[in-house]
Amino acid sequence: MAQRRFLVTAALPYSNGRLHVGHIAGAYLPADTYVRYLRATGADVRFICGSDDNGVAALKTAREQGRDVADLTRHYNRCQQADFAGLWINFDIYGGTHQPDYVAVHERFSQDFFLKIHEKGLFTKRTDKQLYDLEAQQFLPDRFVRGRCPHCGSDKAFGDQCEGCGRALDQISLLDPVSMMTSSKPVLRDTVHWYLRLDRLQARLAAWLTEKKNGRTGGACWRPVVINQSLGRIESEGLPERAMTRDLTWGVPLPLDDPDAKGKSLYVWFDAPIGYVSFTAALCRRRGEALEDYERWWKDPECRVVHFIGEDNIVFHAITWPAMLLATHDSESIQGERHEYQLPHNVVANSFMNIKFPGKDEEKISKSRGNAVWIEDYLRTFDPDPLRYYLTVAAPEQARTAFDVDDFIARNNGELLNAFGNFFNRTLTFAHRYFEGKVPAPGERAAEDREQLQRCGDAVRMAGEALEACRFKAALAEVMSLARAGNGYFDATKPFQTRKSDMEACGRAINVCLQTARTLTTIIAPFLPCTAEKCAKMLRPDGDYRAWAAATSELRAEHPLGEPEILVKKLEAKELFAD
Ligand code: MF3
Ligand code: ZN
Repeated sequence: MAQRRFLVTAALPYSNGRLHVGHIAGAYLPADTYVRYLRATGADVRFICGSDDNGVAALKTAREQGRDVADLTRHYNRCQQADFAGLWINFDIYGGTHQPDYVAVHERFSQDFFLKIHEKGLFTKRTDKQLYDLEAQQFLPDRFVRGRCPHCGSDKAFGDQCEGCGRALDQISLLDPVSMMTSSKPVLRDTVHWYLRLDRLQARLAAWLTEKKNGRTGGACWRPVVINQSLGRIESEGLPERAMTRDLTWGVPLPLDDPDAKGKSLYVWFDAPIGYVSFTAALCRRRGEALEDYERWWKDPECRVVHFIGEDNIVFHAITWPAMLLATHDSESIQGERHEYQLPHNVVANSFMNIKFPGKDEEKISKSRGNAVWIEDYLRTFDPDPLRYYLTVAAPEQARTAFDVDDFIARNNGELLNAFGNFFNRTLTFAHRYFEGKVPAPGERAAEDREQLQRCGDAVRMAGEALEACRFKAALAEVMSLARAGNGYFDATKPFQTRKSDMEACGRAINVCLQTARTLTTIIAPFLPCTAEKCAKMLRPDGDYRAWAAATSELRAEHPLGEPEILVKKLEAKELFAD
């Protein structure tokens, strides 16, 4: 079988702040787990991320902090890299749409995209009214204007949305608008923008999404929420044109030789996903290949592109971005010929995570009110794996969940330590104490031994199937249930008794426990890579312990084991929140 190839991306975080547990649970951890698993199966994978530097988010924070926007994004780009590295979330490249090493290539790709779509006649140029700040002498981005909601009258309405009733707004519908830049009252002025003709791409998008819904494109099972927010939206409302330009100078300059293009840049949601492509090209170059080799990942039907995102990004990744890709195609087909951009194989979205501190109510994570668990703070005290474990078992895969601090501690101590850690611990200490640190002979296996080994094989298969389908919680549940079965087998075969009466039976049981530990080492690795490394040091299996196909290959009798080591530490809540 030919080697499978995947290009996996995780949503580019805005470079205007640090990362908290909600970010990690939403996109980055599942993506990293998936990539580790794919590699374990022998697939060739590129894992792409970087910061989303352009547009209003960074600009607004820079203004609030009185900082230069380029410096701000540089700073947070670095901080985010440190947060990811601390959690062993290892991208092949971490670029940034406005970072010094990437901005030139990124602008070229973004402008080429725009021009290609422009050539195809899929933009409409149109004049519309927008709010203009006379003092600041500029048009106001949606997030720089507030006022009263025309629907509910709340005064917490912003140019894009009302915080009172949650409705999406058009900035010119705001009552008594106020500029957040100067606190002055803005006026309406004409401005020209380029609108993507989503209406003309709608039929092809709907056909493609319908195939995804029915699971007819190579077995990718799209999550219902992604289908509902994309296909559901097209079927219920249709797709209006969307402006892909902004009156901003912080961004990718509009590449048109047109007086109306002056002072405008590409909409940040236009250039950001192109970052996935431009960073892939940068990665090719870094590996000594040509920039153009990005096509091997993006324009080859043999390679599958998979995007990991948070729920608020669904529309952009399942409608706008595929629309942009289709808009560059030379034919009307949805499949994309060779040498044309392939549409995403899967878009995997998680919901959001709330937070629950001991003795408090569950609430939304918010950086402004300071209720978040920041990765930086977490890593000061803890290893990455307890968090990776919790964020997978409590992942918001189907619906919103909460990061419950007590539950985090309870599951570490009650599940990871009790089931997984203890199984290794008792097995390895036993082998060292009574079998000179060597694998005892398998002897003549009885039914219960064979059943336990059978469970190992089943766990590998079922965890693998769940991982293929991006059902990470279910996959980890299989791993943990094998660890529990291992403990059950240890208890049932009682090696602590047979060692006094029947050393052959004792060795047989410990052999099977060690084989179980061997399997666990491989199948825990995509989830808890740091723990798996320690497991591998203790078991010293031949070859790459991560290779999925070898997960049940047995350790031979007399195989020398490494020193036993504590795998999982007991945690206390107060360590996390020593304030
Ligand atoms: N910065 C966006 C967010 O955090 C995500 C951008 S994803 C990309 O919501 F595809 F546009 F890059
Ligand atoms: Zn409202």
